[in-house]
Amino acid sequence: MTATPSDIQAAADVLRGGGLVAFPTETVYGLGADAENPAAVTRTFTVKGRPPSHPLIVHIAGLEHLEEWVADVPGTARVLAERFWPGPLTLVLRRSPRVPPEATGGMDTVAVRVPDHPVALELLKAFGGGVTAPSANRFGSVSPTTAEHVRSELGDAVDFVLDGGPCHVGVESTIVDTTGEAPSVLRPGGVTREQLEEALGRPLAVDSSSRIRVPGQHPSHYAPRATVVLVEPGDVIAEAQRAQEEGHQVGVFLPPQFADAPVKAHAVAVVPASDAEYARELYGFLRELDRRGCDLIIASLPAEQGLGLAIVNRLRRAAGPRSGR
Ligand code: TXA
Ligand code: MG
Repeated sequence: MTATPSDIQAAADVLRGGGLVAFPTETVYGLGADAENPAAVTRTFTVKGRPPSHPLIVHIAGLEHLEEWVADVPGTARVLAERFWPGPLTLVLRRSPRVPPEATGGMDTVAVRVPDHPVALELLKAFGGGVTAPSANRFGSVSPTTAEHVRSELGDAVDFVLDGGPCHVGVESTIVDTTGEAPSVLRPGGVTREQLEEALGRPLAVDSSSRIRVPGQHPSHYAPRATVVLVEPGDVIAEAQRAQEEGHQVGVFLPPQFADAPVKAHAVAVVPASDAEYARELYGFLRELDRRGCDLIIASLPAEQGLGLAIVNRLRRAAGPRSGR
C-alpha cells in the first residue's frame, strides 16, 4: 500500500519528535532520522547494530538546499548534482557546522544526496530539514527493497514505515568523493561510471574494490545468511549439483544463457538478462534464497560495465569474509 499524504505528514511528525522513519527511495529503503538531532541519529546506529564510526548519508529535498549542509561546492560536484539529482548519486563534500559529528562519524566531510522517489521527496519537503538514512537493514545484511523487508528485519525498532512499493533501482547510490583533486568513486551504484564520465568529460577512478577507504565499506557487507560462492558462469550448474550431492541446500543464481537448462539444486533464481532488472531483483533474490533455507548460494559475476559494476561489487561483498561483520 503506497503511503498517503497523511501518512507522510505523520512520518514527518515522527521525525520532528526524534523518531525513526523507514522510507522508500529509488535505490533501497532508508532508516531516516532528523539529521540535526544527535540523539535520533545515534539511535539509528543502535537499531542497525552499526558501529557509530560509520558515516551516514544526509538526504535533502533538492539541490537548492545543498549549501546549507556543506562548506563549499566544487565545480565537479555541481556538475554531477545538476545532472543526476534527484537520483542515485551521493556526493561527499566538506561538511558545514550544521551537520552534527554523530552523522559523519566525526569526519570533516559529509555525504549528501537527493533521492528520486516521490514518497521520499514528499517526506523531505514535509519535514523541511535533512534526514540521515542508512539502508534500513541490520548492519552487514542485505539492504531492503520493499517495505515488507524492512518490517520483517527491523519490526518494532522503527517508529513508522512508509510504503512506496518495490525500489526501482534496487542497489544503493553511487558515492563520489569530490573533496580531492580529482573526483573518485567510493562505491559503485545506481548511476554508472559511464554516465559519470560522460557528464564530467573525463575518466574516473573507481576505488571500491581495492582497499577499505572509509568505515562502512567492510568486505562482508550485503551478505545473506547463506554462504555465497562465486564461480565462472559455465561452472554454475556443475558446482551447484556437486554441492547439492554433498548435502548442501543449494541456491543457484542461474546465468540467463542457461535459463532453460535443468539444474539440481534446492532453489533457483534465474538471473535477468538486463542488468537494470538484475540490480532491481538482486537483494530480493538473496533474501528469497535465505528464506527458502539455502545454506549455500552459487553465483557468477556479470560483466563489469554499466550497472554490472555495482552488481559485481555487491556479489563480491556478499561472498566476502564474514569476520569483522
Ligand atoms: O542508496 C543509498 O545510498 C541508500 C539510500 C537509503 O539512500 N543509503 C545507503 O546508506 O546506502 P548506507 O549508510 O547503507 O551507506 C552509506 C555509505 C557508507 O558506505 C559510508 O561509508 C559512506 O556512505 N559514507 C557516508 N559518509 C561518508 C563520507 N563522509 N565519506 C565517505 N563515505 C561516506
Ligand atoms: Mg547499507
